Amino acid sequence: MFERSRKGEHALLIQPHSSGADVEDALEEFVELARSAGADVVATIAARIDRPNPSILIGSGKLEEVQALAETAGADLIMVNHALTPVQERNLEKALQRRVIDRTGLILDIFAQRARSHEGKLQVELAQLRHLATRLVRGWTHLERQRGGSIGLRGPGETQLETDRRLLQKRVEQLQKRLDKVQVQREQMRRARVRSELPKTALVGYTNAGKSTLFNALTGADAYAADQLFATLDPTVRRLALPGGAIALADTVGFVRDLPHELVAAFRSTLSEARDADLLLHIVDAADPLREERIGQVDAVLQEIGAGDIPQLLVMNKIDRIEGAQPRHDLPGGMPDHSGRERVWISARDDSGLDLLLAALAQRLNLRRLQGEVRLPPEAGRLRAQLHELQAVRTEWADEQGWRLHVDLPLGEAERLAAQADGKPLRELLPALLPEDWE
Ligand code: GTP
Repeated sequence: MFERSRKGEHALLIQPHSSGADVEDALEEFVELARSAGADVVATIAARIDRPNPSILIGSGKLEEVQALAETAGADLIMVNHALTPVQERNLEKALQRRVIDRTGLILDIFAQRARSHEGKLQVELAQLRHLATRLVRGWTHLERQRGGSIGLRGPGETQLETDRRLLQKRVEQLQKRLDKVQVQREQMRRARVRSELPKTALVGYTNAGKSTLFNALTGADAYAADQLFATLDPTVRRLALPGGAIALADTVGFVRDLPHELVAAFRSTLSEARDADLLLHIVDAADPLREERIGQVDAVLQEIGAGDIPQLLVMNKIDRIEGAQPRHDLPGGMPDHSGRERVWISARDDSGLDLLLAALAQRLNLRRLQGEVRLPPEAGRLRAQLHELQAVRTEWADEQGWRLHVDLPLGEAERLAAQADGKPLRELLPALLPEDWE
């Protein structure tokens, strides 16, 4: 943290608010966001806005206050926790003689730093360029005192700043084309996954709730977990074995309240992991005093991306930070303080309560098992070996027609075998056991 702030640009944060709004909480989160981008926050100021000023958003008296504060605090960058029109941004920069970035620009900057997959990088670059496109025409001459700095200019946008709009437009088209191609590939991958019929679950939640930590704890994977906002930008999908069968589990980007609309659009495909899920594991930082508000804010984003109606299991994480809290499973309706959603209380860091979570998951997904006797002809030796490997064979007898096996395995596993089976289709080999609707 010390390293980061030494290197960071000195930022003054403006928190616009309407009367009666909770300024403290919004400001606290904004400071977190600014730090996540690598800024050193040197001052903050609240600005009450009853009617937004179309030319500078805030009132002219407030502008003078900001000017004075920027001088005394030695700020070289102004961040505004609100969307600014290009005109407002330009006018503020002119008046304050410092670079000004709005909430969208800031979140885009964090995304630019975090994107790791090819698709994620393309999406961020595209969103950044679109955000810049409207602001580029003005040039940067009104910023005589600008002293370098990088927040909001980082990454792909940087080389584009002096480029004319025609080139910018060309780049946007090129990116869009590339992205379309990547998305077709992703769609194909997803279809392959759907074919394998594994029930789909996605981890969603407010940024920093502990999604990646839980994902790693459950799957033994090594997704990036860090005490930074949006540490996970790209979705990762892993297979997870549960008592009743396997499921596909996806980690997704963290949500934040008032996610800028440009970003919702840009990340629509990334968030499709959440949209296509059969069940959402909504991770909540249970030790956060604002946790109930956060739940509502995540629900709002889910609604916006078309995932509002997907069933959810609330996973109350970080109970190690709540004194006396033990892992437990609250059934729907059992919670006096909430609308009655099922909640499992865990600590992903300590691996406590994960058994409760897995059991709740299996129960919610209604995982089915395939149980009974099958006859395998001598040529089905490979399938027999696979069933043994899965420890699905309870007893077996050999006779002149081959084998008789008593098997017990998750339906998901049987379906996976079917997808790989060469030679005789599984339907012929396990006829009596497969459900009617099995394809
Ligand atoms: P985003 O990528 O921003 O969406 O974050 P995330 O939800 O993936 O959170 P992540 O797993 O990166 O965890 C955020 C921070 O919380 C990290 O510092 C974790 O070590 C910490 N954390 C996660 N789970 C627990 C927990 O059960 N207990 C405690 N005390 N800390 C946790």
